[in-house]
Formats: sequence, C-alpha cells, structure tokens
Amino acid sequence: MKQLLIIGIGAGDPEYLTVQAINAMNRADVFFLLDKGASKQPLLQLRRDILQRYVTHDRYRLVEADSPERVREGDYAGQVHDLNRAKQQVFERLIDRELQDGQCGAFLVWGDPSLYDSTLRILDAIQSAGRLDFDYQVIPGITSVQALAARHKVPLNAIGQSVQITTGRRLAEGFPANADSVVVMLDAQDTYRQLDDPELEIYWGAYVGTENEILRSGRLVEVGEDIQRTRREARQTHGWIMDTYLLRRTPKDS
Ligand SMILES: C[S@@+](CC[C@H](N)C(=O)[O-])C[C@H]1O[C@@H](n2cnc3c(N)ncnc32)[C@H](O)[C@@H]1O
Repeated sequence: MKQLLIIGIGAGDPEYLTVQAINAMNRADVFFLLDKGASKQPLLQLRRDILQRYVTHDRYRLVEADSPERVREGDYAGQVHDLNRAKQQVFERLIDRELQDGQCGAFLVWGDPSLYDSTLRILDAIQSAGRLDFDYQVIPGITSVQALAARHKVPLNAIGQSVQITTGRRLAEGFPANADSVVVMLDAQDTYRQLDDPELEIYWGAYVGTENEILRSGRLVEVGEDIQRTRREARQTHGWIMDTYLLRRTPKDS
C-alpha cells in the first residue's frame, strides 16, 4: 500500500514546523512540490530550505508539478470546482506514477491543510473514486491566522465571544452581522477600505513570519489608507503578496 503524508509546514517561518511535522518529513521517500503564479519560486525555495534543514538523510526525491490555476470565467463556485477537478488529475498522476507500492509520499501544505486549502478535499475525492489504493495521514501546521495573532500579540476573540474567519470576497458583502472579531484572508481587493465603522480596529500582516514581514495596526479609519499604500508598494517590490488581517470592534473610549 502507498502511504501519503499531508504535512502543514506553517505559514512562513521555517521554525513554525512542529516536531511531528519534522518526524513525518523524515519518513517520506518522495516530496511533491506544487505551487503556482508569481509566488511559485519563493514558496518552492522555502520548501526546499525546510527539507534541507530538517530531513536528516538524502534518500528522498523531489517531484515538482505545476499547480493548475483558476480560470476566471463563469461563477466563482464553478471556477473553484473546475480548478479542484484539474488539481485532482495532477494529484492522481503523481500518486500513480511517482510513488511505488510501500513508499511514502508527502505534500507540504502552506500553513495548515484545514484552512483555505483544497488538498484534503482532493485526496478524499481521489479515495472515493477508488482508482488508487493509498492511506494518508494529516499533520497539522501553524496557520497564517495564528502567526498573525502572535506577531501582533493579540487574542483573536474578545472574552467569551466568537471569531469568524472569512475571505475578502465575503467581506465585500458586508461586515458579518453579530461578529465582533473577523479574520480576513484571500483579499486581493483591499476590501477593508469599504468599511468606515469608527469602532473597528485592524491588525494587518503581510508575508508574516518571513524576512519580508510587514505589520500594521490601529483604528481602521486612521490606518486603512497607509495599509493600502504599503500593500500596493510591497506587491510591486516582490511581485506577489500574501496578507491577512483581523478586524475587531472596540468602542472608541475603551
Ligand atoms: C490559500 S490560503 C492558505 C492558508 C493556509 N493554509 C494557512 O493555514 O494559513 C492563502 C491565504 O493565506 C493567507 N496567508 C498565508 N500565508 C500568509 C503569511 N505568511 N502572511 C500573511 N498572510 C498569509 C493570505 O490571506 C493568503 O491569501
């Protein structure tokens, strides 16, 4: 039987790797490296650096593959569905052709596989299709949300309250009703600029945990413009950006 390890590698700093992740990496014979777009080279390099740093033998193979990109036509849910079908084909090919029976293969997933990542859904679909025989284990990693909260030294939730994690696309529909704290990911459109609630504070971070990390925080109405400018400039400088922010309601006099 083929074995697969889905390893969360944390969201930037090689020291975010857990002991469990390091031990899992040392069991793998083959590493599948997939990335896409402008962020491809730096993120692939970070994975290579992680392997060099933590894997104590050189008996492993690296297999790189292009991750399909979303075709921006039609409705968003349909685009994501088609994208995941295309990714499924890539994964199936890798597992089928690049891994021998009895070997262990590993996918290194940015952050944690449970958060805005399709790897687990794809593996589930492959197993359900029944064409390939394999077992897999999931090793959790530190998400960009945890990294952001740690770097800003803030809790995500107010005492006894909930926190909602959402996307820029969803936030564009309005600040979630009844939410005090909202974490926004995958926002390419500076959606926070659409909000003018004076009670909102923002804790923003780009490339968190990496050498290019940028952090900003304050009342949204006061720092929003600076974040937008900083974000635009950073994106120009590096050619890509990954940023996340926490919005939370705090009455003005608190
Ligand atoms: C496809 S999701 C993957 C999330 C990942 N699985 C995790 O656990 O954080 C990509 C989004 O995660 C966020 N992100 C990932 N790494 C980040 C980092 N180092 N700094 C800031 N945001 C990051 C950004 O919002 C980005 O658009």
